[in-house]
Amino acid sequence: MPPVRIALIGTGGISGSHVRGIKAQGDKVQFVAAADVVPESLKKFQETHGVPKTYLDAEEMLAKERPQIVHICTPPHIHCKLSVAALKAGAWVLCEKPLCASLEELDAIQAAEKETGNKCASVFQWRYGSGGKHLQKLIREQAMGKLLLGVCHTLWYRGADYYAKEWRGKWKSELGGCSMGHGIHAMDFFLWQMGRWEEVDARIGTLDHNISVEDVSMAMVRFANGALGSIVNSVCSPRQETVIRFDFQKGTAEVKELYGYENKDWTFTGIERKDGEDPAVADWRNIGEDVRSTHGAQLAELLEDMAAKRTPRTSGEDARSTIEFLSSLYKSAATKRSVARGTIKPGDPFYAKVYGDLETRGK
Ligand SMILES: NC(=O)c1ccc[n+]([C@@H]2O[C@H](COP(=O)([O-])OP(=O)(O)OC[C@H]3O[C@@H](n4cnc5c(N)ncnc54)[C@H](O)[C@@H]3O)[C@@H](O)[C@H]2O)c1
Repeated sequence: MPPVRIALIGTGGISGSHVRGIKAQGDKVQFVAAADVVPESLKKFQETHGVPKTYLDAEEMLAKERPQIVHICTPPHIHCKLSVAALKAGAWVLCEKPLCASLEELDAIQAAEKETGNKCASVFQWRYGSGGKHLQKLIREQAMGKLLLGVCHTLWYRGADYYAKEWRGKWKSELGGCSMGHGIHAMDFFLWQMGRWEEVDARIGTLDHNISVEDVSMAMVRFANGALGSIVNSVCSPRQETVIRFDFQKGTAEVKELYGYENKDWTFTGIERKDGEDPAVADWRNIGEDVRSTHGAQLAELLEDMAAKRTPRTSGEDARSTIEFLSSLYKSAATKRSVARGTIKPGDPFYAKVYGDLETRGK
């Protein structure tokens, strides 16, 4: 098989993680070109990573290089435009989170997927570590009993230096605050594990930053399987951690880390009993080969999906579930009422923008 030709758009902060992921695939891939609108950023990227060609215009790069996979690492407000352009230029897309600005934009991406047969996947590296896949299998097999409740906390800290970048902290360019930009990883992972979400009741606040978007959000979620979930997202938490736990009838699974996990970050606990630990707990703990939740782990699976002409796990309905959840979280915070899945339709401000009318309404 000739190597898969890969190009990248947006050579800023996160691009290094993508390059590490690309290099980890060895001779299965060939990194052909990168594009950025800022010449200095592009030059530094080329010097650091040795990409053969660079372009100041992404669409020119797509036309001339004809890549088979395009990594999109630009600020969020142009993800949709670039994803559609890459799909139409014949590539599969691996686009940074958030994939797009709204359900309306997601419809445009999915129409382009249908038209071209190419696929667009949202970067959600948390789904691709061994611990996450192991838990998914335990849930499918009901090994720990029925899933009853879950807790998903993204407790991070971001200071004024972080918000100095002009696209951050604004509804139009960051598309949201700590829910859309930070908690999105853990929430996508949480929703994937918990099963189909049905209803969300949320509140947001801007408690301690000079920004327009929220720096704290909280949500209660009801799932179709009857489970309940509690979510907290924050960029106001000096002792930072990401904690996601799942309580089942027979035990608790928990992952505690910051930006990514390995097997050692997982704990599995059975119900305490006098005659020693339930022997099943040892099986739950047996995660198998340790795969860290990285961009490289996601790219490896994307290459397999492409070869098998399979829809990637963070495309299609799965991508919709998370974007619709965020739209519903913001709508619930704006209206101070719970929002049921499937109720945000064309004509609703939260269909046209994930953050609806929050920019003008205030919080
Ligand atoms: N998956 C993760 O863990 C993770 C972590 C951090 C950031 N991100 C996401 O990655 C994306 C980029 O974040 P960042 O921190 O790297 O931002 P950044 O500002 O450091 O980099 C963005 C780059 O895109 C370039 N760019 C802007 N418009 C462009 C265009 N039209 N064509 C080509 N290049 C363009 C900018 O010049 C800049 O170099 C965001 O969506 C962010 O949410 C993901």
